[in-house]
Amino acid sequence: MTQYVAFDGRLVMIGCGAIGLGVLPLLLRHIGLRPEQITIIRAHANGDGVSREYGVIEHVEPLLRDNYRVILDRQVRSGDFVLNLAINVSSLALIEYCRERGALYLDACIEPWNGGHVDTTLPPAQRSNYAYREAALELRRRFGRGPTAVINHGVNPGLVSHFVKQALLNLAADSGLAAVPPAARIDWARLAQRLGVKVIHVAERDNQYSLQCRQRGEFVNTWSCEAFVDESCQPSELGWGTHERHWPAAARRYGFGSDCAIYLDRPGASVRVRSWTPGEGPYHGFLISHGESMSVADYLSLHEDGTVVYRPTVNYAYHPCDDAVLSLHELAGKNWQMPPRQRLLMDDIVDGIDELGVLLMGHGRGAYWYGSQLSAAAARALVPHNSATTLQVTAGVLAGVVWAMRHPQAGIVEPDEMDFREVLDIAAPYLGPMAGVYTDWTPLQDRGRLFEEDLDRDDPWQFTNFVVA
Ligand SMILES: NC(=O)c1ccc[n+]([C@@H]2O[C@H](COP(=O)([O-])OP(=O)(O)OC[C@H]3O[C@@H](n4cnc5c(N)ncnc54)[C@H](O)[C@@H]3O)[C@@H](O)[C@H]2O)c1
Repeated sequence: MTQYVAFDGRLVMIGCGAIGLGVLPLLLRHIGLRPEQITIIRAHANGDGVSREYGVIEHVEPLLRDNYRVILDRQVRSGDFVLNLAINVSSLALIEYCRERGALYLDACIEPWNGGHVDTTLPPAQRSNYAYREAALELRRRFGRGPTAVINHGVNPGLVSHFVKQALLNLAADSGLAAVPPAARIDWARLAQRLGVKVIHVAERDNQYSLQCRQRGEFVNTWSCEAFVDESCQPSELGWGTHERHWPAAARRYGFGSDCAIYLDRPGASVRVRSWTPGEGPYHGFLISHGESMSVADYLSLHEDGTVVYRPTVNYAYHPCDDAVLSLHELAGKNWQMPPRQRLLMDDIVDGIDELGVLLMGHGRGAYWYGSQLSAAAARALVPHNSATTLQVTAGVLAGVVWAMRHPQAGIVEPDEMDFREVLDIAAPYLGPMAGVYTDWTPLQDRGRLFEEDLDRDDPWQFTNFVVA
């Protein structure tokens, strides 16, 4: 097994649920790191026997706003690594702490303190991923370069930013354009513009299932039920492209920050969009807010004289596993109150794949999907404690941790700013088949067959054509 980097500090993992448990074997496999260098701090023991199985140190002690410094002071020294895979622990607080300590940092999602996503004393714009990202960028302006803190690096957000770059290069090669990979951000944006990319979906269809059907009053998912419900209750958000001509119903601007995105004044799980993956074909996905909708849109923006002249629309189109769709349906019916029971699908998954990629549209060659088609069986054979969904995430976490250890003075870094080849080389062995597939599907396909619809047929790639009325 390739050892990508050696690390002689301590690795303090905050939170060890679906993703933390899944990434542990990968960290020990690919990083020169002994189990006794790893300390886990989490809120619940979970009965998974992780410390016994892996020989790591474990503390069950929730980090809260008023105790996290005291708890971390006992564990974290200069040169250590804080791997934040918890929910309900503020990423920004930990990033600041790590900066002061001289420790490296990575998370798979910018998290607020407990209750932040649904804190109704804040306007929706302030409990958005756009606001969290802007706050992280503000920290970066304040701190400048220093110990590396990678934010949002799982699979999405995370690896999908690297998939976008590979997909752009594939499209360029297939279109007969020069195949030299751009070096700078602006060159990636120019390439996307030159190819005519108008819309990018993170198009995901998870069809894993267990034989035990979802029961009434139960939330079922292939990763954290709690984190999924939290993000489902955040406002729907999308990077807002320059080709868009119609202002969507309920759309708002934030009024601060880069202005690369908009939000809809309703929970993400109440908004569905039409999208497409190779295995599923056309489907309805939930327009859940995710960090990559902002970071990819911002990264690919071109400005002239202070005005944005090119930007693709970027959004998530998530079809979770079928039992999670039923769970969301019940959740919405109960006005977004978590049901009494939650169940993580893992060892009981009998079949299915998580098809997760980026769908680039509007470029004159139809639509192009590039991504991972990982089956539950393949994931299980590759790494213990993983489903297809968690292995895609944990492969991204592993690659991000290795990248941070290799580049320890990069400051606060978004996935888009990392070397996509370096990251994908590490993650790829765990992603199953990586497919690049063209399709002539558009959101207008078969529309108007049963009912007249108000569509912009001059440009299929208008956001309003994607939204499910
Ligand atoms: N970027 C991606 O692709 C991606 C995908 C899945 C999950 N995630 C993110 O990864 C993180 C973990 O997800 P998961 O599915 O493992 O969640 P999970 O619910 O399975 O586990 C969460 C862990 O956090 C711990 N925790 C909760 N409150 C805590 C506190 N106050 N102090 C310390 N620990 C606390 C819990 O004990 C648990 O171990 C979440 O932020 C989630 O949004 C990212």
